[in-house]
Amino acid sequence: AAVKKIAVLPGDGIGPEVMDVAVKVLDKVAAKYGVSFEKEFADVGGIAIDNHGTPLPESTLSLCKASDAILFGSVGGPKWESLPPEQQPERGALLPLRKIFGLYANLRPAIIFPALTGASTLKEECISGGLDILIVRELTGGIYFGQPKGREDKPERKAFDTLVYSESEIARIARVAFEAAMKRNKKLCSIDKANVLTTSVLWREVVLEVAKDYPQVELSHMYVDNAAMQLVRNPKQFDVILADNMFGDILSDEAAMLTGSLGMLPSASIAESAFGLYEPSGGSAPDIAGQGIANPIAQILSAAMMLKFSFGMIEASDDIEAAVRKTLDQNFRTGDIFSEGMTRVNTVQMGEKIIANL
Ligand code: NAD
Ligand code: IPM
Ligand code: MN
Repeated sequence: AAVKKIAVLPGDGIGPEVMDVAVKVLDKVAAKYGVSFEKEFADVGGIAIDNHGTPLPESTLSLCKASDAILFGSVGGPKWESLPPEQQPERGALLPLRKIFGLYANLRPAIIFPALTGASTLKEECISGGLDILIVRELTGGIYFGQPKGREDKPERKAFDTLVYSESEIARIARVAFEAAMKRNKKLCSIDKANVLTTSVLWREVVLEVAKDYPQVELSHMYVDNAAMQLVRNPKQFDVILADNMFGDILSDEAAMLTGSLGMLPSASIAESAFGLYEPSGGSAPDIAGQGIANPIAQILSAAMMLKFSFGMIEASDDIEAAVRKTLDQNFRTGDIFSEGMTRVNTVQMGEKIIANL
């Protein structure tokens, strides 16, 4: 098989710590399956500002363009928060990468591994038997990218963002969600705020039109405020959740906590081609960075999603997931998912246990 080229962008905070582990997992997969990955590392985010004066250096971007996929850590942190907003790691690197590569579909699977039902903040009966929700988040439109965006300082300070969606943007992400639902339990809940926002009225209209092509999928609509509540009241009612850029951002952090920790939630940012960007749903975790205690599982599962979606390596991808599951069954826990009676491990040790189970 052709060698797959991966742009590895660890970024800031816990990014490099968990990326180290994910890369070792990929090495093990390569050895086990007799394939090879060409991994090339580059700076992105705060570290790139420090080393190159810009969060997305030309050299990093051209590496991404020359690669089959991007494995991304996380960017941002207190050190760069006082820079002008457009020059900060998040708005200067991560959002442009998503936009430049047209990665409009962000898949965030919130899965509770059986061994972790105790780590969820929800009562055991709410999640008994496990939980498996897929959040499909629109990633290149909405209020994140709408124009105009800016601020004025007179007569008083004023700032504005624009929430705009076109029918084609809504239809293509809706299709991704319906297709995903078809492969799962055929239940889709579309999130909006159609009682207030005009974009949401259009969102609902277009989702209903796309639904005509998927008569087998049971479609429902829910206001985002109610959805936030329902997710913690009875998460099992959800199968696939479809949301715009901002609602999907917020609900996916909430869903992550159902699984025990933000450090468990991977993500895939994809489009029509095989190219994709894979990153944990969480951030650089400045509160624990540098201590070697971050949970590497979200990064490892993001690498597994890369194997599945960009490289078509379904078996290897499932293999990684099974190794994670087994390691949790063996009661190894990083601090974020630790509970009494479990064996506490650090980032590197968690990686070693998972690799041993591969
Ligand atoms: P965060 O996701 O970094 O952290 C929120 C909480 O979750 C923290 O308590 C953190 O310790 C915990 N956490 C997250 N990942 C963890 C892991 N793997 N293991 C254990 N605990 C984990 O969110 P924040 O604190 O709001 O943001 C910090 C910085 O990260 C900001 O600069 C933000 O913009 C950035 N950020 C980047 C990305 C990204 O690069 N994709 C995503 C979200 C936030
Ligand atoms: C995420 C993050 C990003 C987002 C930030 C860092 C720009 O929170 O990937 O969820 O809001 O999309
Ligand atoms: Mn987020």
